This record gives sequence, C-alpha cells and structure tokens, in this order.
Amino acid sequence: MSPTTRDTGRFDALTADAGILFGADYNPEQWPREVWVDDVALMREAGVNLVTVGVFSWAMIEPEPGAREFGWLDDVLGLLHEAGIGVDLATPTASPPPWLGVRHPETLPVDRDGVRLIAGSRNQFTPASRVYREAALAVTGDLAARYAGHPAVRMWHVGNEFGQLDYGDEAAREFRAWLRARYGTIEALGEAWGTAFWSQRYSDFDEILPPRRMPYLVNPAQSVDFRRYSSDQLRAVFREQRDAIRAAGAAQPITTNFMGVFAHADYRSWADDVDVIADDQYPDQASPTAPADIALVQDLMRSLGGGRPWLLMEQAVSATSWRPHNLPKSPARARLDSLQAVARGADGICFFQWRQSRSGAERFHSALVPHAGADTDVFRGVVRQGADLQRLRPVVGARVQADAAIVFDWASWWASSESAAPTDRLDTVAEITRWHRALWRRGIAVDVVAPTADLTGYRLVLAPHSYVIEQDAAAALTAAVTAGADLVVGPFSGVADANGAVYAERSPALLREVVGVSGEQWCALPDPSVPLVWTDGAEPAAGVSVGTASILGEQLRSEGAHVLARYGAGPLQGRPAITRHPYAAGTAWYLGAVVDDAVLDDVIGRAAASIDRPLAGYDLLPDGLEVVRRGEALFLLNHGDPRRGGEAVEVTVPAGLVDLLTDEVSGEVVAIAPDDVKVLIERQDR
Ligand code: GLA
Repeated sequence: MSPTTRDTGRFDALTADAGILFGADYNPEQWPREVWVDDVALMREAGVNLVTVGVFSWAMIEPEPGAREFGWLDDVLGLLHEAGIGVDLATPTASPPPWLGVRHPETLPVDRDGVRLIAGSRNQFTPASRVYREAALAVTGDLAARYAGHPAVRMWHVGNEFGQLDYGDEAAREFRAWLRARYGTIEALGEAWGTAFWSQRYSDFDEILPPRRMPYLVNPAQSVDFRRYSSDQLRAVFREQRDAIRAAGAAQPITTNFMGVFAHADYRSWADDVDVIADDQYPDQASPTAPADIALVQDLMRSLGGGRPWLLMEQAVSATSWRPHNLPKSPARARLDSLQAVARGADGICFFQWRQSRSGAERFHSALVPHAGADTDVFRGVVRQGADLQRLRPVVGARVQADAAIVFDWASWWASSESAAPTDRLDTVAEITRWHRALWRRGIAVDVVAPTADLTGYRLVLAPHSYVIEQDAAAALTAAVTAGADLVVGPFSGVADANGAVYAERSPALLREVVGVSGEQWCALPDPSVPLVWTDGAEPAAGVSVGTASILGEQLRSEGAHVLARYGAGPLQGRPAITRHPYAAGTAWYLGAVVDDAVLDDVIGRAAASIDRPLAGYDLLPDGLEVVRRGEALFLLNHGDPRRGGEAVEVTVPAGLVDLLTDEVSGEVVAIAPDDVKVLIERQDR
C-alpha cells in the first residue's frame, strides 16, 4: 500500500482491540512530574484508554535550533504505557518555537492587510514557507524515528486544526505555482477569472498576488481559487508530515483533527488522506438548536469517511473559554453529547483537555480534571462516561444506514459566499443546517454528500443551496430522481459554474428539465418577510398566508411543475414559490425562496413521507428527542434540557429490548428522562 493512501483497517484494528476510545489531549509539560503520576492514576479510574500527547511541545523538544529533548517524553510515554493507556502522539508542528520566527521571519504568516503575525499565541507559521516546512519535517522525522515502535503509541496526530491563511510573499510564490498547475496558460486563467472585467487582464502568472486588501470588490474567482489553494497548501503540509511518520516505520493510524463545517479546508478533498476522520466539536450550550446543529456535523464526518466510524477528537467537558460568554455543560449534558456522537458513528470520544491549565490563554477552558481537582461533579461525570462507553463496546464498527442525503460541497459554499450578490444574507451552512433539522426531528438518518456522488441509492436527496452545479452534479441529481428519489432543491441553486461564472440562461441552469420550473431573475425580498399562499388542494381564502418567505425569492414560471404555493404579496406576488414535478420514477420539488421553518419542515416532511423511521409510528419525534439506529442499536437521546424546562418523553418501542447502558429490559413504553440516553438492543450475549 502506498504511504499516501488511507488505510482504514488500522483504526478498525485499534478499536477492535481497545473498544470505544476515551480520553483527552494531555499536556504534561505544563505540570511537575509528581502530577503526572496522579494523572495516570486518575486516567485509570476513569477508564481512559487514549491520550493525545505533544500537540504543543515543539519548544520543549527543540529548545534551540537543532537540539532534541526527548527524555521527558520518554518518561511520559513510559508512565502511560505501564498503566495500559494508549497514546495518540502528535507532531508538535502547529506551534513553532519563538526562535523560528525570530531567525526566519518569512515563516510567520501575513494577513490580508500585510500585517505579519508574531509568536506569543500559536499557529504562527505560513504553510508555504520552505523553512517552516523543513523545520517541521525535521522534528517530525526524529519524533517518528524515536517512537514509531513504542508500545504506548496507538495513533499519530499531525499538527492541530489546520486552518492558517497566509497572504504574504511566500504564499504569493506558491499561489502562482498552484495557478500555473491548474490553468497551464495565463490566457486560460484570464478566461476562468473573467479578467476582461475591470481591466484585470494579466500577461504573466508573476503579476498575480493573493487577494490582499484591495481598493474595492475582489474578483470572486480569484478569491475562490485562493481558498482552494490555501486548503491544498495546508493539505500538502499534512501529507508530508504523515509520509515522514510512515517512512519512519510507524504502523499506527495517522490522522489530524478537523473542525466541522470549516471554511478554510475542503475536508472532502482531505478525507482520503487520513486513516480515520477525526473532528473537534464545540456545540454552543447557549443555543437551543445545538443538538440538531452538531448532528449535521457528525453526519458530515461519518459521510466523509464513507460511513466508517470516526473519532470525536476534541470537545469540552464543561465550558469553553473562547466564546464571549461560555455557558458550562452539566455532567449529564456532557455525557449526552458524547453518546450522541457514538450514536452518529463515532468509535472514539475524546476531549480538550485532560487537566485544566493554570496559566496561558486557555486557563478557564474546562478539562476532565478541573482546577478544583478530582473531587468534583465534573470528574465524577467523566468516570461515569468512561463506564458507559465500555458498555457500548457492542456498537464498535457498526454503521448508520441512511436513506436520505443532503448535498454540500466546499467549492459551492465558497463561491456563494463571495460578496456583491443579490443578498449577503443567504448563508449556505445556515440553510443546510435548517434543512437537516427537518430530518433530525423525524429521526431520518442522512448522509452529507458531494453533489457529484452516486445518489441513486437514496430515496430522498436535499440540495438546500447548491450555488455551483456543473454537468456532473446535474447528472447525478437527475439520476437520483430518475431512479425514483424525491429531490428537493432550494433557492439560488444552479447559478454558476466551478469558476463562479453565472450561467447566462434561466435558472436553475442544468436542472430546469428535472424540476420543471425556471427563473428569470433572483429577487431580494423586503423585510421582514412576504406571505406565502398555499395553492395545493383546498385553496385557502384569497390572501390567507400559510407561512412566509424572506431573504431571497425567484421570479419563476412553471414549465410543467405543479405549483404548491405562491407569493401572497410583495414584488413576486402571484408567482410560484414552491413547486413539485413528477419526473421519471421520482419527484423533484423546488423551493424558489427562503421559506420559514414551518413551511420548510412541511415540504421536507411531504418529500420524506415514504422513508421508514427508526421508531415505527412516529412521523415527528417528541420535542427534543433524537433517535438514531446504529447497527442493531437504537439510540434514544433526550435533549430536552431540564434547565430550560425539558421533560421526560415516552415513546413506544418493540417490547423486550435491553438497554446496553443499564441492562434493563424495556417494556413497550420507554421513558427517557431529560439529558438521558437509552441504547436499546435485542437481547444477546454480551
Ligand atoms: C481546539 C484546539 C485545542 C484547544 C481547544 C479549546 O480543540 O485543538 O488546542 O484550543 O480548541 O476549545
């Protein structure tokens, strides 16, 4: 197997041996050695089986250029190994020592305004810098050579949360090389970027710069290509460190931690480079929609790995400290968050961090061992989680089967985020999150897929905001409908090609035939909203609103589609807003406006009518209840927060199922307390 190909078997072998992984980032360099001994004892008490070590240890390992101080790390790994605790060993390359930037200022990133960023925080490197890359590879190579065969090391963790942007001269050089490789000739670039506009014609690649501060609006194609380049450049940094670890003989899985729906890295292009998808998740405790919102991220992570188990690499056990206002989680909620990730496919549950720092920028970020020590509700909650996760061993490796898919891709998101559009209020991620919520409320499992994926196995495909649609995506979406799926397309879709050039035809270009409706122009809607009048079946009295549209509508005409709702007032009064079109064996629904939550839920509910639910008889689940089937296990998670008046919910299930968490045998009616979870499975030998 080539070192550049992911090998998912390495992670499967680890979890087959260790069960569900449970642990945290461990930063022993912040503590005296006596604390290490306490740490290891407490880890054992909690059932921790994996800790990520060394993420920010470069200055400890290489206190001056070329030096190597591995003795302390030998001791840490030795202690952990004696206690049977595995190590996810990190390359320390996310935070270079201050001396690197002092000696080589070109390793420091430059922001859009030309400001060079300095040491004193973290992440002060430019991915394009050859000096940085060589220094990072040197320390990675030595680390891997020393520890590749260490029995404590169960996994490798490259860098941390890759996400740096750099607009400096190093980046300019690499961006040009990237553009040369993409376009070949400057004429081809000029065509793709539309440089005839505003006299932007370049005669040589060397004239091109990253999209630094400019007098007025930036060429959107240049901006999107810079995003593509930035993601690819970070990916190259990841890959070369990964390859150095493999070249040193390491056989463990290698990964890095993603950041959910993150704007600066196209994780779908990274997915084949990691042996396991790993993600950091910090749902906001202050948001009532957090459980549904994070479910989308978890579905994305599972889908990036082709449905295979993924790893929740970091989360907070109580409060974060980087938000302006940081609500803590109760121990019960922390447990619920962890079990939600398992329900949606995670085979590992880890946290940032093991012991709460006394100093530094994250001194108020929660940790498994808080400042107040182990005699705390937080730590008792951690011990409980460890025990729960051991009980869930039967779900290791099990899959979530989805009949529904939601379309999301970075290039389209990027192109749609460029300024100077009909509205800057249409947010791709917000729309996808809202559409996904309609499935979450029904317990309908969903994969998050590229529009070019093979969609023919799905019974429902949602395309909430696919701004960029090219021939391959149009063909895939059409094939899904042809095969019998319901396809629901949202507004401002099929607008542009991959360069962000708008199709000079009626919208949604390339999908007109399948949706049976087309638009002449997009139309920002007046605040706060305009009424929609349902016209399907029994007509409400003239002018009676059944919901609203806001932000953006489209001046549509039906080309064969049945009109379900029209605008009741406003600039588009009387025109179609929501349509349905039978096509081949399937049905295409079109939402020509950003409709309110209730209307959206209604339309998606209709389109999803034929999909089997994990709980028979429930079209909509009781408020706050999340239901997921993973393999044979039925997860029932009650997100009704008791601090917000959440209550126990009762549902009917097949009698005689066993709760893996308690061994209790359930009757037909199961009550789930707020913040609690049941994992029901048919009785079997465990
Ligand atoms: C991320 C980072 C950690 C830490 C936490 C704080 O997970 O990887 O180093 O900063 O955020 O929430």
